[in-house]
Amino acid sequence: MSAVRLGVLGCSAIARRRTLPAAALVPELTTAAVASRSPEKARRFAAEFGTAATDYDSLLADPGIEAVYISLPTALHHEWTRRALDAGKHVLCEKPLTEDSAKTRELTELAADKELVLRENFAFLHHPAHSRVRELVDQNRLGLLRTFTAAFGIPPLTAGDIRYAAELGGGALLDVGVYPLRAALLLLGPDLSVAGATLRVDESLGVDVAGHALLVSGGGVFANLEFGFQHCYRSRYALWGSSASLSMDRAFTPPAQHQPVLRIDEQDHAEEITLAPSHQFVSSVSAFAHAVRLRSPYERDWLDDANALAALVESVRDQAVLVPAKDPNRGREPDGDRGERFPRAEPDRALR
Ligand SMILES: NC(=O)c1ccc[n+]([C@@H]2O[C@H](COP(=O)([O-])OP(=O)(O)OC[C@H]3O[C@@H](n4cnc5c(N)ncnc54)[C@H](OP(=O)(O)O)[C@@H]3O)[C@@H](O)[C@H]2O)c1
Repeated sequence: MSAVRLGVLGCSAIARRRTLPAAALVPELTTAAVASRSPEKARRFAAEFGTAATDYDSLLADPGIEAVYISLPTALHHEWTRRALDAGKHVLCEKPLTEDSAKTRELTELAADKELVLRENFAFLHHPAHSRVRELVDQNRLGLLRTFTAAFGIPPLTAGDIRYAAELGGGALLDVGVYPLRAALLLLGPDLSVAGATLRVDESLGVDVAGHALLVSGGGVFANLEFGFQHCYRSRYALWGSSASLSMDRAFTPPAQHQPVLRIDEQDHAEEITLAPSHQFVSSVSAFAHAVRLRSPYERDWLDDANALAALVESVRDQAVLVPAKDPNRGREPDGDRGERFPRAEPDRALR
């Protein structure tokens, strides 16, 4: 197949660290241009990735660009995804697709109407470890499933990070909380309801910095999900059944060379299944390129999943008991005691 010509909207950290290096490894995709609000930044980025520099509007007006990768702050995803779809481009948009379910529905309907590919970029969905987990569950390896627990937490971010800006769609629920929610949809199915939730809110910023959600699946399985920006690094999930439990660490952000280990615990027996490494960002962009070329009828499952996730996020937000954050620890330069207790997060952030 001929390579899909991709335009990149926003010279973001995730584009630089993960998506563009991954795209360079995928022959079915060519990064044709990068766009920034700043011409100088676009030039630097373009030089680094051997491509052309432009601005947002020109990128969308360029008939040579077939597909657009959007990694702007979350509150800008809706506007720019809509504009990209209106311009006839396929879109790979960073998670979460938007901040609320009405906006997400509008975008998924537009993509369906125009028969364009629209994917919310949860790279972990492309890691084969999760299909292996599903296989084990389907083979009844755990007995009857009772509980799913999942957590994604990271240490405090640097001051000024987009995740601390309410007007840019910041907050832990939208940034990290969406991973355990998306994993619950993947492993328990779409018929999930929110039974309760908490959000810890930094009132001076107006964003949530941590939270919990309790969900129940149509089949009666409980899901207990945790997330936040106030924690040591954690990215894991576990399934607890009537005869065994299964857990996996580094579930959402395994480095490309990481070999996931599925640990199965039974009453008198423990077993570890070590899986092959997989570069989930490469798989994600490659799958997107194939979807663009195949034009499989606008990928209903991806659109439905984006809507299901947005509805869950909204339900968590609506039901959450709000708790004030007592130890505002966001983005400080290390300063004495607090600086040591809440170090800056670079090593773990680099895994995301
Ligand atoms: N899939 C994943 O694993 C993953 C990981 C991390 C982040 N993400 C998602 O990717 C998105 C970006 O995250 P990031 O950490 O890469 O963010 P970031 O480094 O802050 O990049 C956001 C980019 O958006 C552009 N932008 C446009 N208007 C802006 C504004 N008013 N304020 C700030 N930036 C603005 C900027 O590009 P220009 O200056 O070039 O215009 C900026 O570089 C978020 O939605 C996040 O949830 C996904």
